[in-house]
Amino acid sequence: MSTVVVTGTQWGDEGKGKIVDYLAEQADIVVRYQGGSNAGHTVSVEGKEFKLRLMPSGILYKGKRCVVGDGVVFDPEVLLNEVAGLKKEGVEIADYLISNRAQVVMPYHRLMDGLEEDSRGQLKIGTTKRGIGPCYMDRDRRIGIRMCDLIDDETFAEKLKIILEIKNRELEVLYNHPPLDYEKILAEYRGYADRLRPFVLDTPSYLNNAVKNGEKILFEGAQATMLDIDYGTYPYVTASHPISGGVCVGAGIGPKKIDMTVGVVKAYCTRVGEGPFPTEQLNETGNQIRNVGHEFGTVTGRPRRTGWLDGCVVKYAGYIGSLDYLAITRLDILDHFDEIKMCVAYKYNGKIIDEMPANLRIFGKVEPVYETFKGWNTDTSSIKKYDDLPEQAKVYLKRISEVADVKIGFVSVGPNRNQTIVCA
Ligand code: GTP
Repeated sequence: MSTVVVTGTQWGDEGKGKIVDYLAEQADIVVRYQGGSNAGHTVSVEGKEFKLRLMPSGILYKGKRCVVGDGVVFDPEVLLNEVAGLKKEGVEIADYLISNRAQVVMPYHRLMDGLEEDSRGQLKIGTTKRGIGPCYMDRDRRIGIRMCDLIDDETFAEKLKIILEIKNRELEVLYNHPPLDYEKILAEYRGYADRLRPFVLDTPSYLNNAVKNGEKILFEGAQATMLDIDYGTYPYVTASHPISGGVCVGAGIGPKKIDMTVGVVKAYCTRVGEGPFPTEQLNETGNQIRNVGHEFGTVTGRPRRTGWLDGCVVKYAGYIGSLDYLAITRLDILDHFDEIKMCVAYKYNGKIIDEMPANLRIFGKVEPVYETFKGWNTDTSSIKKYDDLPEQAKVYLKRISEVADVKIGFVSVGPNRNQTIVCA
């Protein structure tokens, strides 16, 4: 397989970082294609934890090339700090490239993200306030600044002047906020441009040539299907397309060039921020999952909402992303539960419904139909082969695959690379 896409099937934090890191060993190039510094993968290498925000996880292998694609909203300060932090940890940064079409996150994006979220009252969406949404909004308003603009001194100075006037007017009218200083931003971002210029290039052309030359490319999704701007639980979603189709628009790779799609599924379910979550357990079970699984945000530290696996969500992600395989992560977190449940259908107004409700009022009221599984009460964390998993764990995994109608390719039983069982 020369091109593989890894995406999240739930509401994020499924452990995509670990699966990407595992698969990256086979890849020549690892690519991020959407989202921004709100992603926050955690990858464990030889017992050491690395938290990555913008840099593709492939950076943790020597010699892999990493690409930040066109669909990413790029915060230069975050990336430069990340590179410095990784170097300090002894990671050899080989080769990274940034798309000349990637949109740049500016100080007014971060500022407006916070101001808007705080002014939304009940319409609050739980953003990470890193400027991601406002940066995508400016792209769509056609007042974004791209990397090709940033590295061209003259274009950047001109564009920033005009755009900052618009932004300062909006800051004043909407939030009674004092204006931001043009010269200060210009100087700060020119500094970033000087440091990043050598890494900026036309990545669609680079990647398409790589495909032609038979190089192996791994596309790393951030966030997940239920956070997709169109297919997720709108409006409690992210501003981009984390699904496999996002690769086409976020990396410039056409659909015919995607060979394999893998959807990462956490063995239970979590979400952060607002919005319906049918299988949420606001009880002792939910607390137990949170405590055993250390379910607190990588970047924000916020406690995550926890619940049972929602098979309807995974099935939906399966067809939206035309998934070839599921990678089930964190199975070990369920090792010591007497009983495990999975939602296999939704009931609404007494009827079973077959589709994922687009209307959140309905989605907020669906009743999960659960199947109950006997727990396996066995430590799975050192198991290396699928056949050696406890029978009850296999029953649970088989049922996930049936409900989702997608084969299981990988089972992860711990954060480390060697805690990955290959089934396919
Ligand atoms: P997002 O892009 O923000 O959704 O990130 P993500 O999907 O990579 O999730 P996150 O960074 O929250 O990572 C999940 C955590 O689980 C990390 O600390 C991983 O090391 C860890 N992890 C991944 N797989 C397993 C597993 O099978 N078992 C255990 N116990 N931990 C795992």
